[in-house]
Amino acid sequence: MTDVLVRALDQALATVRANVEAFGTAYPDDCTVAGRYPLRPAAGEFAEGANRGWTTSFVPGQLWLGYELTGEDLFRTAGLAHAVNFSDRIFGRKDLDTHDLGFLYTLASVAPWRLLGDQDARAAALEAADRLMDRFLESAGIVQAWGDLSDPAQRGRTIIDSLMNMPLLAWASEQTGDPHYVAAVRRHTEQLAIHMMRADDTTFHTFYWDADTGEPLRGATEQGAADDSCWARGQAWGIYGFALNHQLTGNDDLLTASQRCADRFLRHLPADGVPFWDLIYGDGDDQPRDSSSAAIAACGLQELARIEPEPERAAAYLHAGEQLLLDLIAGYTPAAEGVDSDALLLHSVYDLPTDNGVDEGCLWGDYFYLEALMRYTNPDWRRYW
Ligand code: GLY
Repeated sequence: MTDVLVRALDQALATVRANVEAFGTAYPDDCTVAGRYPLRPAAGEFAEGANRGWTTSFVPGQLWLGYELTGEDLFRTAGLAHAVNFSDRIFGRKDLDTHDLGFLYTLASVAPWRLLGDQDARAAALEAADRLMDRFLESAGIVQAWGDLSDPAQRGRTIIDSLMNMPLLAWASEQTGDPHYVAAVRRHTEQLAIHMMRADDTTFHTFYWDADTGEPLRGATEQGAADDSCWARGQAWGIYGFALNHQLTGNDDLLTASQRCADRFLRHLPADGVPFWDLIYGDGDDQPRDSSSAAIAACGLQELARIEPEPERAAAYLHAGEQLLLDLIAGYTPAAEGVDSDALLLHSVYDLPTDNGVDEGCLWGDYFYLEALMRYTNPDWRRYW
């Protein structure tokens, strides 16, 4: 089994190296098209390949994992070039109207600070934490997910993915000694545990609050099959994100939420172990899989196993996470299928309702697949989150 992981890691790192050569400091698009990444298209003030959107940090995230795994200067040099680009993005105020500042700056800036003590990257990450705090709505106790804060369609709305953006704020408190960042994490994650989790242990993708009164309003989907369905990636973000935030806040309800997300996710996997894009589907349904959900869940289950107090349950989470990773290696990689692709992982779904990135590779799927390979080959790895 270890041989399988080591071989998969070698294959993945070969692709990451080739992508450094192919893309340099330009950014691929969110998802592949017919198995290969195009450059991120030009949009408005942004040239082709520029740093915009929520997924660009998954490129340096892969490079920092590669650097830790091999010590190769190729990864370090390319990762540092991206860190400069991310400093330029945050201080130049480029495309910042999003809670995804956490995804972006944890991987692009906190990681090089953790690994190399890079002070410029630290300054960029602290600035990003301040901009993320601009999105905290005091009355509702949540960080607004998308859009300008005055946008009526997005005002007071947050999404389950936001759990992964909270570690940047907790890190900022740790770095500055200023508790207001982690206080926001406590309130935001408590609200998510109360309102995003349903009684049957499924999750809403998004939830609205009245931003003025703080009243919780309603759950809704954006990328799932229906408002009351269970978007697979949201459930995977829940496993991983609640487990992380339990450690950052000490709130035991978040551990419970992570366990509930995990148990529900694992009970609804199809025979080959990789979920359909929404957990309402199962074997026999003619629907695409979302391999990225499995990669995220594999990481989240290993993290959950680290903090689960009952040894038997911890072992079961660890085993289930490793099995997910093995299922991905066996059936969802270019090597398994014998196809030529510059993605590490095939068959993800970005946003099926808008027909965006359906049955393709994606940058976050690649990153979390590599993180999962790191976690299951180096169980004591120190996370960037
Ligand atoms: N965070 C956006 C997504 O998972 O599609």
